[in-house]
Amino acid sequence: MSMRFYIHTMGCQMNEYDSELISGLLKKEGFEPALSSGEADIVLVNTCAVRELAAEKAYSYLGSILKKDKKSEQTVVMCGCVAEQDGAGALKRMNGIDLVVGPARIREIGRILKIFLKNGKRKDFTGDLSVDWKEDALIDRSSGEKAWVTVSKGCNSFCSYCVVPLARGREESRPAEDIIETAAGLIKTGYREINLLAQNVNTYGKDKKDAGGFPELLSKVAALEGAFRVGFKTAHPRDFSEKILEAAESSKKIMRNFHLPLQSGSDRILKIMNRGYDTKHYLEVAAKVRRLSGSSLTTDIIVGFPGETEEDFEGTLEMFARAAFDSAYMFKYSPRKGTAASKLGDSVPKGVKEERLARLMALQRKTGLASNKPLIGTVQEVLIDGATRSGGKVCGKTLSEKQVFFEAGKELKGFVRVAVASAGPFSLKGELVK
Ligand code: 5AD
Ligand code: SF4
Repeated sequence: MSMRFYIHTMGCQMNEYDSELISGLLKKEGFEPALSSGEADIVLVNTCAVRELAAEKAYSYLGSILKKDKKSEQTVVMCGCVAEQDGAGALKRMNGIDLVVGPARIREIGRILKIFLKNGKRKDFTGDLSVDWKEDALIDRSSGEKAWVTVSKGCNSFCSYCVVPLARGREESRPAEDIIETAAGLIKTGYREINLLAQNVNTYGKDKKDAGGFPELLSKVAALEGAFRVGFKTAHPRDFSEKILEAAESSKKIMRNFHLPLQSGSDRILKIMNRGYDTKHYLEVAAKVRRLSGSSLTTDIIVGFPGETEEDFEGTLEMFARAAFDSAYMFKYSPRKGTAASKLGDSVPKGVKEERLARLMALQRKTGLASNKPLIGTVQEVLIDGATRSGGKVCGKTLSEKQVFFEAGKELKGFVRVAVASAGPFSLKGELVK
């Protein structure tokens, strides 16, 4: 019988994509998927290093499977951003980890595992952060309707708090033909949502002479035949170009959610974060996004960056209210080894971070509700999200990525029209239009 593998994925969409790629590469080498870590001969844990808590969760998950499930012959592989960051340190820290494989090296996972299964030598495969995009054709997608398509890897921005440039290296754009071919194949096999994924979609193609920019790529994908929509994540406010709005304006297939991380509403802090824009620039970008009908604006915020004063934080509250975000991911600052900000200490006490986060969350409820209310009485095109059902209701997403709950009857799939009847801070409720 062939050997069986199990992948546990933590962290962002980039990791979800990477896990699907690992699965495809392993199947090609003759390994078979297992339903649980206990049944697997090989367990791979795809980790996230963006905050301390996430990294620690990776180790505690590894600790728990090593105790619970580890048959003596089970091979345990740590992948992802913690793997890249900790390298051989992870092998020292946990005896049960056999292999440590950084995000770029996962494309060699089959070969790495086969060598280990022969010689049993514990080893870390990190450091080389360049990728060979050809391998991505082998991806094994788990969901039948929504697909992530990575358009570039890494990041050149070096925001002072962020570990991503260290864990995933410099930005490398995937050839446009490759992306378009992948998207076309997915649409043919029935995928209805293509999400183009990068740390910063706005700089797509800058490292390649002939790749063209992101708006061009987006328009080309949107021009493919079929019933689908195309979204994108994440856009950096510094590099935002109006061309992306023009592309969205000219195609009904392009999703209208703009995720533009603000991070802080204090110009002083934005500078130390090395974000490359100020609040004035951000508000200009936000105003442009709002002019596109049916758009939504979402963001990421970090509270308690080193030296953040009450006044700085009030700036964040003010910006949040002015940009009137539809929704936001909000985080307490967490110092990360090797980043520029880690040298600044972690001066804001935990209690203050928590209090600031709570104030921001309360504001988010208000801006979220205010952005959802105008949709009451409208009819939205919704893509049913097969995975989410709550109290007999189905969940779907509008073109602006707002969640809508409605009764759908059984076996409804794909695109439907929903009349929005009520709105809350985080989602809408509605009725199917027959
Ligand atoms: N501490 C807290 N939040 C962070 N993020 C990135 N690095 C850190 C950190 N060191 C947040 C940013 C980013 C999101 C993905 O995670 O808001 O946009
Ligand atoms: Fe990190 Fe900044 Fe790059 Fe985003 S843009 S991945 S926050 S360095």
